[in-house]
Amino acid sequence: MIPRIAVFASGSGSNVQAILDAIASGSLVASVCALVASKPGIGAIARAESRGIPVFIGDASAAIRATSPDVIALAGYLKQIPSELIDAFPGRIVNIHPSLLPKFGGHGMYGRHVHTAVLAAGETESGCTVHLVTEHYDEGPILAQARVAVLPGDTPESLATRVLEQEHILYPNTLQQLLHGR
Ligand code: GRF
Repeated sequence: MIPRIAVFASGSGSNVQAILDAIASGSLVASVCALVASKPGIGAIARAESRGIPVFIGDASAAIRATSPDVIALAGYLKQIPSELIDAFPGRIVNIHPSLLPKFGGHGMYGRHVHTAVLAAGETESGCTVHLVTEHYDEGPILAQARVAVLPGDTPESLATRVLEQEHILYPNTLQQLLHGR
C-alpha cells in the first residue's frame, strides 16, 4: 500500500510543491490524498488542484474523515492543530520549521519573524528542522535538520530564500525516511 499524506498549508505552498515533485520523480513513495488549506486563495490550493488533489478549506476533520491519511504533513500551516487530531495521529504528524530548532521556535516564530530574529541574534548559521508535532508547539522530537550559513549582508528575505531551498530537499527526504525507513 502506498502511504497517504494529508498536507496542511497556509501560504504559497512551495513545500507542497516540493512534496508533489518528489512523488512525481519517485524519490518519495507516497500519495497526497488531501490538501487542507487554512483559507481560500492561497497558492498551495492551485498547486494541489493542478494535480487533482482534493482541497478542504479550513476543515481538517472533514479531510481526515473523507481521505483517511496515514500521515499529516504541516507545510507552513499557521493554525493550531486541535489536540484531538494530535491524539488520533500519535507520531504521525510532522512539521517543517525554518530554523535550527530548538532555537527560534515557539510562539510568534513563523515566516519572516524567524529570519529577522536569527539575524538580530548574530547567528552564523541557520537552517530548517523537520519534527514530530506534539501538544507543545515546535518542541516535538526532531527527525532531521539541514544547515545554511548566514552570510554578511543577509536580509530576512535572502536568508529565507536560502533556507527554503534546503526545506524543499529536506522535507520530502525526511517523509520518505519516516514512511519507508530509507
Ligand atoms: C516555510 O518556511 C516553512 O518552514 C514554514 O512556513 C513556510 C512555508 O512556505 N513553516 P511555503 O508555503 O511552503 O512556500
